[in-house]
Amino acid sequence: MRNARRLLVAAALLVGAFSPSFPGMAQESTKASENWLLDAKDDTERFRRVQQMFGGFSAAMLVVAERYERTYDAVAEGNHELASYHWKKIREAMELGTLRRPGREANAQALFLKETWGATEKAIASKDNAKAKEWLLAARSACMACHMAEKVVFMNDQPLFRRTATFP
Ligand code: HEC
Repeated sequence: MRNARRLLVAAALLVGAFSPSFPGMAQESTKASENWLLDAKDDTERFRRVQQMFGGFSAAMLVVAERYERTYDAVAEGNHELASYHWKKIREAMELGTLRRPGREANAQALFLKETWGATEKAIASKDNAKAKEWLLAARSACMACHMAEKVVFMNDQPLFRRTATFP
């Protein structure tokens, strides 16, 4: 009786090892290649995948928001070089965002890049902390104005903008 059960278990294991649900074999037969670019069927598909991977405007905004907060902290601590570093990267990120989503470009230029960004950069570079704070708050208003113009006003109602509304 015990031998029969052992035989059954051994048989079950053997069947399991050679069935398609065995992990090693399933990977070979059904899973797509991990070389998702090199093994794409042609260049069109390859570029489509690259384009998709970069994302749209929200991917740029995540970077902008992260660096905006770091700029704020750097200005609050009087580290103007660090603030300037992040502030410059914000422009790059915003421009890459409008390259991907040209529909956002007019408001990005008019409300943020054309005047406010440069004036804020100058104020930070001057190392006049009061001026840097004043302009960063103006830039914050420009961010929020663009969210209104682009009809995503709910973006303004989040801790990021509340926390950076004043300096300690
Ligand atoms: C073109 C005008 C424009 C400007 C200028 C702008 N934003 Fe945005 N922002 C948007 C739009 C549009 C979205 C929504 C993107 C989407 O739906 O794909 C957004 C989304 C966001 C998000 C949410 C991102 C996410 O997906 O989680 C944050 C945070 C944000 N913006 C912060 C900022 C900050 C901080 C600034 C200023 C430094 C700023 N934005 C300047 C238009 C703008």
